[in-house]
Amino acid sequence: MARRSDGAKQFRIAVIGAGIHAETNIYPSLANHLLAKVKTIAVCDLDDARARRMASFSGAGKSYTDFKEMIRKENPDGVIVCLNGRLHPQVVIACTEMGVPVLVEKPPALTVEDARRMWQASQSSGCPVMIAHQKRQGTAYVMAREITSNRREFGRVVQIEAKMHAMPRFPTNFSCLMEWQVHGIDLVRSFGGEIKDITARSWVMGSNKAAVAILLTFASRAVAAVGWGTFGGPGPFCERIEVVSDKGKGVIVENASTVTFYDGSWCRTWRPDWNPNLANQSQVLMGYVGEILHFVDCVQKKKQPSPSIEDGVKNLEALYEIARQTGITTEWRFTPSRF
Ligand SMILES: NC(=O)c1ccc[n+]([C@@H]2O[C@H](COP(=O)([O-])OP(=O)(O)OC[C@H]3O[C@@H](n4cnc5c(N)ncnc54)[C@H](O)[C@@H]3O)[C@@H](O)[C@H]2O)c1
Repeated sequence: MARRSDGAKQFRIAVIGAGIHAETNIYPSLANHLLAKVKTIAVCDLDDARARRMASFSGAGKSYTDFKEMIRKENPDGVIVCLNGRLHPQVVIACTEMGVPVLVEKPPALTVEDARRMWQASQSSGCPVMIAHQKRQGTAYVMAREITSNRREFGRVVQIEAKMHAMPRFPTNFSCLMEWQVHGIDLVRSFGGEIKDITARSWVMGSNKAAVAILLTFASRAVAAVGWGTFGGPGPFCERIEVVSDKGKGVIVENASTVTFYDGSWCRTWRPDWNPNLANQSQVLMGYVGEILHFVDCVQKKKQPSPSIEDGVKNLEALYEIARQTGITTEWRFTPSRF
């Protein structure tokens, strides 16, 4: 790790993947928000022109088309891997075998078995593997979790109502689960804990058209009702979660941006304001900056990140069980971020 001017260590990060999502959210987070703490030292993409462009934008300067060569030559403190669910397992496992902690985009893998192999590789190498579910670090969800995790004030979480609507732009119903609602299951687990039981129903109208309803029971005995499917999103009524406690209190997060806390007699609501300051920038509000900071903090302090690859395995187990019960065939096709 390089020394910063204030004497603290600057985390040296390399990025594998310079595609659309990385260009839209990862590199801008690194270049615009994290320069003081994180130094982007190198960029790798099979597409040399893309790698060079993002290396120039992020200030890394150095670009590669072979990630193993990049790791050998640059010796980063951590890597961000942003490719796709089919490619992630082999690249992430190779990185951990080379001794490098990884922040990998969702979905970490296409099968539970591959995700378990990544978990195993993380354990045997001692390199943490974190999944980039940025919503966990989004401002609204962090505020909501601060309220619900204060057991003395809020009480016990007993009930969750959540929705994550989508759109038939995904090529298959399973792609919709794996690319979009994988964030939803991760969020619900972040408030409810371990899932003990799943009951799912669907109306499948076509290979990329379905309505999906799910009931969950958590190990804590709390219950959840979840609405997914391929209709109703991604507009302003797409995403909602309400977490209710045994003290009659609740927190609602609407579209990852508005937080309402109520205690039975009154409520208060938070929204980001219009001020163009750091905290109100989209990559901060959405959690992309926070997820990188959390990854860096966990590597530096040798803590398990959240969500870890263990969470990745549990999220995929839940998605496969939902697909099985709803008759959704597990055919995944890559959905590029470009519309
Ligand atoms: N968290 C989010 O909000 C969010 C949003 C969109 C996409 N994503 C995820 O981000 C990932 C990337 O999506 P995208 O739309 O940017 O895809 P993309 O196809 O635009 O980018 C992937 C890039 O990886 C490169 N690549 C492939 N194999 C490589 C290798 N071995 N070494 C180096 N580079 C390699 C490709 O050349 C391409 O430029 C996916 O997993 C997707 O699900 C996350």
